[in-house]
Amino acid sequence: MKDFRIAILGCGTIGGGTARVLLDNLEGFSRKAGRRLVLAGIVTRSPAKSARRYGIPRELFLGEGDELSPAQTAALIDRIVGSDDIDLVVETIGGDSDYLLGIALGVLGSKKHLVTANKALLSKHGNRIFEAAEKNGAAIGFETSVCTSIPIIRVMKESFVSDEVISVSGIMNGTSNYILSRMQEGGISFAEALAQAQEIGYAEADPGFDIDGIDAAHKLGILMKLAFGIDVATSDLQVMGIRDITAEDMALADDMDCSVKLICHAHRKDGRVYGTVRPMMVKRSNLLAQVSGATNAVKVVNKYSGENLLIGRGAGSLEGGSAVSSDIIFIARYGSAAVETHSPVLCDFRSLDDMEFPYNIVFDTEDVPGITGSVTTAIGNQNINIDTVGHNRHGKTTAVFSIATMPCTLAQLRLAVQEIKAKRPDILRTEPRVMPILH
Ligand code: HSE
Repeated sequence: MKDFRIAILGCGTIGGGTARVLLDNLEGFSRKAGRRLVLAGIVTRSPAKSARRYGIPRELFLGEGDELSPAQTAALIDRIVGSDDIDLVVETIGGDSDYLLGIALGVLGSKKHLVTANKALLSKHGNRIFEAAEKNGAAIGFETSVCTSIPIIRVMKESFVSDEVISVSGIMNGTSNYILSRMQEGGISFAEALAQAQEIGYAEADPGFDIDGIDAAHKLGILMKLAFGIDVATSDLQVMGIRDITAEDMALADDMDCSVKLICHAHRKDGRVYGTVRPMMVKRSNLLAQVSGATNAVKVVNKYSGENLLIGRGAGSLEGGSAVSSDIIFIARYGSAAVETHSPVLCDFRSLDDMEFPYNIVFDTEDVPGITGSVTTAIGNQNINIDTVGHNRHGKTTAVFSIATMPCTLAQLRLAVQEIKAKRPDILRTEPRVMPILH
């Protein structure tokens, strides 16, 4: 059988790891694919640096010199996209710009298979990319895009094909999980934990994507497409990150036998799909509460097989390279049989406002007679059932106490808080802090 020729665009963490894993295993991978795999070429802005960092022969990089200009790089990418001599392109440049979309569509339009780690691009333009793949008889692999080396994409697509997903929840950003774990275990502030994450190299100098929940939301969007067939824009997920989590939140969570985690959660109920990303208080009886450090975990609850939990490394060069290589072997082995049908599902999507969760609400109040009564009455007036009222932490003239509710919506809670403010404008010192509880 004809050789299967691979090009890599972008040679950073994942692209470099992919080249390294491929080069170390070409013979074995070729046996598994049933045809000879060839790494035909790599395009990157800094070939000399990438060659040194990942131990890749310089001659595998296209272009002359140590550094290429953006124009030279673009011309080489065009050459790969237009080449008749490449079967599969690995896109590990990253970003969701029109330029990147153009590369993905160009690869598929020229009937080459595409393996991409680009969760931002897939979550923004998934429909167009999947449509183009099907139309051109090309396959797409994106195992690395969600939780790197956890094989959740293949499991959702292949193993759970005979089941029905009821819910997907998980810890899908290792940097945030590391920060929250450090805060909970070490009793340190968010700023201190973030500094530690940056020192170790987990968080970027600009860690916004990680700590503001965007990276996690991209991953949840991809899993929602696989689980429920729907496309949800990141902006519809009412994403909240972890910047505002305090040491007090952690202490209150401890009191309730919970860990605070940045949770991606989506479920289907009565024909509707619900989804959001935000910090939640996870009961320690839930295995997700026990996932600490930079580890990722995805829990899928199915109609027939019940609870399934996958735990593993959500980042890393060789981890990513192994997941990309697994897509390459799969596509090389099955060829056109790996091409999928794209059929987007129209579905009623709802975000957090309409989603029922048990909530914990923390009230920071003036310590005057009757506050607990005013607060619990307003909550009852919204038909919210209270589970427990936590004990007061008294200051000289202040009291902080928490109320855990039975399942209700955020919209109901907002109305209760509005009523408290209207009837007792004197008692709330700050805006009540509200967090879903995940059992
Ligand atoms: N920065 C991500 C994380 C890994 O911290 O989990 C890549 O998505």
